[in-house]
Amino acid sequence: MTTVDMRTPAALADAERWTAHNYHPLPVVIEQADGAWVTDVDGRRYLDFLAGYSALNFGHRHPGLIAAAHAQLDRVTLTSRAFVHDQFAEFCHSLAEMCGKDLVLPMNTGAEAVETAIKVARAWGYRVKAVPAGQAEIVVAADNFHGRTTTIISFSTDPDARNDFGPYTPGFKIVPYGDLGALAEAVGPNTVAVLLEPIQGEAGVLVPPAGYLAGVRSVCDDNNVLFIADEIQSGLGRTGHTFAIEHDGVVPDMYVLGKALGGGIVPVSAVAANADVLGVLRPGEHGSTFGGNPLACAVGIEVVKLLATGEFQERSARLGERLHAGLNALVGQGVAAVRGRGLWAGVDIDPALMTGRQVCERLAARGVLAKDTHGSTIRLAPPLTVDEADLEHAVAQLKAVLDEARA
Ligand SMILES: Cc1ncc(COP(=O)(O)O)c(C=O)c1O
Repeated sequence: MTTVDMRTPAALADAERWTAHNYHPLPVVIEQADGAWVTDVDGRRYLDFLAGYSALNFGHRHPGLIAAAHAQLDRVTLTSRAFVHDQFAEFCHSLAEMCGKDLVLPMNTGAEAVETAIKVARAWGYRVKAVPAGQAEIVVAADNFHGRTTTIISFSTDPDARNDFGPYTPGFKIVPYGDLGALAEAVGPNTVAVLLEPIQGEAGVLVPPAGYLAGVRSVCDDNNVLFIADEIQSGLGRTGHTFAIEHDGVVPDMYVLGKALGGGIVPVSAVAANADVLGVLRPGEHGSTFGGNPLACAVGIEVVKLLATGEFQERSARLGERLHAGLNALVGQGVAAVRGRGLWAGVDIDPALMTGRQVCERLAARGVLAKDTHGSTIRLAPPLTVDEADLEHAVAQLKAVLDEARA
């Protein structure tokens, strides 16, 4: 390839010139994708070990999902919720059954689904629990990531997410993640919900201590408080179960889902809960023009069917063991610690060696895409369709990057 053929620099410069700088992307301009692989505008191929922050659990352009989308594109794509369309009931029914809940409320992005859960919990608090008007409290964890809206960043502890975006929405109490005593102490008579990620993704794939989520369940039960599990990133097969919270044998009152629910094709999110909770909403109180649209539902139906096979959960559990064995072998050789479950890993790089960003840049140069978080941590989350050879290849590239830096 000659420099004349190189389209990447101009494409990067154009993107930089015409967009707000709210991201700091790696210097890769993707043109095509298939399965676990993407190809850039200059024909270079990369293994995608970020998978759209788990929005691509089924890989890029999964044939069944693409077929469902194509078929729906030729029928009807948008109706608004002013009318009912023929894909709506099947999507909501199958998703509700998958979650073991009575009802589903579909939205688009993850943040919208979290906002929905917050509104539902507050309305439940006033209408069912009889919390005094305007006094509802929700307990959340430090280092959370639940999205970017003004209410959600109001209870973020990340200065980048929060600073200069106030005034902040009141009604949230923040406790350390994994500290059951602190959580129990924070719950009071006006607490309507506890909102947690069963594994904190953005924080660096932090798995809570054994028994923590079960303990949270008990605190919620004892105090008539809803347990909301944000499974937007951790759910839908990523950790080896349909939901990460299953590892702890816990059933939350509300599941908040997103990312992979849209099959990597369209934004699809949802809240699932029983009728005594989600049933508190009345017509006109909540909604979204695109939420539950026909294209989203057609893709979502296929996503639920894929998950019903159990194949992706099984792959994640089995291949996840390989991934974690490979990564744990690097501890002491440039890696300080490895966390995670299934095909999901947070890898702390020895900060004396390199930043997470530097590791990701060097991995990209070697044809593997991953993303750093919080200084010296990188996150690995390949599509659940990745094969063993590609998995071993990616770990070998990480080893090579670290070996080079240590040489
Ligand atoms: C746990 C969790 N909740 C919520 C969100 C927000 O989702 P979205 O970016 O679709 O709004 C994310 C996104 O990374 C997430 O990881």
